[in-house]
Amino acid sequence: VLESLKARLAEGGKAELDLFPLHDIPLYNSDNDGDASPNAVKALRQAIEDAKGLLICSPEYNHGISGVLKNALDWASRPAFNSSLKGKAALIMTASPAATGGVRAQYQTREALVSCLCNVVLTPEIVIPTVFDKFTDGVFTDEATLKFTEDAIDTMIAAIK
Ligand SMILES: Cc1cc2nc3c(=O)[nH]c(=O)nc-3n(C[C@H](O)[C@H](O)[C@H](O)COP(=O)(O)O)c2cc1C
Repeated sequence: VLESLKARLAEGGKAELDLFPLHDIPLYNSDNDGDASPNAVKALRQAIEDAKGLLICSPEYNHGISGVLKNALDWASRPAFNSSLKGKAALIMTASPAATGGVRAQYQTREALVSCLCNVVLTPEIVIPTVFDKFTDGVFTDEATLKFTEDAIDTMIAAIK
């Protein structure tokens, strides 16, 4: 989904979408935070710092935020109330093979971001139900979703300006 969106935004010259997968982020441990934080965490914080806005895309796990995303947000949230997330514009996007599109993960993600003083931009929720039916030859091609997400990104760009 994000690869298709990235290509679309680049084509339109609207925005540059850099993808930051969370595979390398270890479990949070306050003993390893601060100057001694792991390189993957430093890279995450720097990527957030460098971005003008965030598009946080996630599945829903057991009716809520995935542990992987929550863990990454926990690292990103430090130092408390003065992290790279503070004041950063953000959009939340969820996708699922189910008809609910991961919507139940949206509120927990929003709440975690708000606790970090992140500026979650108000838009209609970006929810992608039956996500695996929307690929053609391995490429996400659902025009309605792509357009809907692009509109939300327009709203975020306006909020940043
Ligand atoms: C542990 C686990 C819990 C899941 N719980 C949900 C759920 O509550 N609702 C849902 O729509 N999909 C659920 N799924 C399916 C995920 O939406 C699906 O795995 C995801 O879209 C694919 O992304 P992934 O490969 O990153 O897991 C769950 C998957 C896993 C592995």
